[in-house]
Amino acid sequence: MATNRTFTMLKPDAVEKGHIGAILEKISASGFRIVAMKLTQMTKEDAQTFYGIHKERPFFGELVEYMTRGPIVAAILEKDNAVEDFRTLIGATNPADAADGTIRKMYAASLGENAIHGSDSDENAAIEGAFHFSGREMF
Ligand code: RTP
Ligand code: MG
Repeated sequence: MATNRTFTMLKPDAVEKGHIGAILEKISASGFRIVAMKLTQMTKEDAQTFYGIHKERPFFGELVEYMTRGPIVAAILEKDNAVEDFRTLIGATNPADAADGTIRKMYAASLGENAIHGSDSDENAAIEGAFHFSGREMF
């Protein structure tokens, strides 16, 4: 059964461009409750661990550079069917393929710099949430 939480990061490009408020507004308006949230910056080691599944991919070095170059907003979100519904809200990985009205269509510049992360499974949502937050930071 699908759990009701997912994990997201507003990536450095979205923060740099001043889109935090607009993106959080869209997330809230789409029915997600904020369980935990913070402005933070990942170290190289954090990004290498977080995106470890991609370590053999040719874009891994670029991905780590990008994700560590400035602050991100990390958050745990709650809603029925959270993982799938949030992936729908953010849109395809490549903004050129993302549906109209999705966050990546509206705010992402390219495949490499695509504004926002969403967990791809309930299992990863739990792992990623625990990577960024302790139990005391979840509400
Ligand atoms: P995310 O994990 O960040 O939510 O993105 P995703 O599931 O939609 O895509 P994934 O395949 O997990 O890729 C992770 C991130 O790596 C960057 N990427 N760059 N240059 C490239 O070919 C390429 N492909 C992927 C993107 O930032 C992507 O979100
Ligand atoms: Mg992914």
